[in-house]
Order: sequence, then C-alpha cells, then structure tokens
Amino acid sequence: MDIEKAYAIYFSPTYTLRSQFTAFVEGMGVPVEKLDLTLPRVRKGFSHSFKKNEAVAVGLPVYGGRLPLDLEDFFTGLKGEGTTCCSNCVVRKSRIRRCLD
Ligand SMILES: Cc1cc2nc3c(=O)[nH]c(=O)nc-3n(C[C@H](O)[C@H](O)[C@H](O)COP(=O)(O)O)c2cc1C
Repeated sequence: MDIEKAYAIYFSPTYTLRSQFTAFVEGMGVPVEKLDLTLPRVRKGFSHSFKKNEAVAVGLPVYGGRLPLDLEDFFTGLKGEGTTCCSNCVVRKSRIRRCLD
C-alpha cells in the first residue's frame, strides 16, 4: 500500500523525541504532520482519525524508569483504521526495567 501522509505524535517535554520523530517521518518522503501531545490542555479533548494510507509514529520518553504518569489521555483520541503504526520509547539507558515490564 502507498503511504500518502505520515504523522509524528509525541510527548516530549525536553524536545528529543520531537526532533527524532520529525526526522524519522520526514524521511518517508511524504507530507508530514506533527501532533505534539505534551501539554495536558492539548491532550484534553484531542481526537484524530487516521486513514489506511497514512503512517503514524508514536513516541514517549522514559522518565524515572517508566512511562510518564498521568498520560492515560495520550492515546484516547487516536483512532486508526488499518493505519500503519510504529511506537518508540526513548531512554538514556538507565532504570528502564519498569518501562519494559
Ligand atoms: C526527569 C527525567 C527523568 C529521566 N529518567 C530516565 C530514566 O529513568 N531512564 C532513562 O533511561 N532515561 C531517563 N531520562 C532520559 C529521557 O528518557 C531521555 O532524555 C528522553 O530522550 C527524553 O525525551 P524528550 O526529550 O522527548 O522529553 C530522563 C529524563 C528526564 C528529563
């Protein structure tokens, strides 16, 4: 299937994921849209449906050995229909056990 648009979706308080994921989806050679869901006011009520011919890259960081707390609403508004999706978690290589569990 031909991908016609790619999305970078991230929670990125210190901007590492933002730059990594932007570079990642821009490498796909299709139009790109960034959805920065870092701020609670942006996540609140956020909703987006992705199509089958779109690709989504979702990224979260490890803080304190786990995914950040209070992010239940991060995925709530993301809906796909056979959408190609990859997820990634960035770390600085310490205390990642709880995140992997
Ligand atoms: C407050 C804080 C806590 C962190 N805790 C961990 C950790 O426990 N293990 C780890 O491997 N990296 C840890 N990191 C590193 C982050 O996972 C890494 O810098 C990541 O790229 C941050 O993503 P962001 O820049 O998109 O916010 C921590 C960073 C911060 C700022």
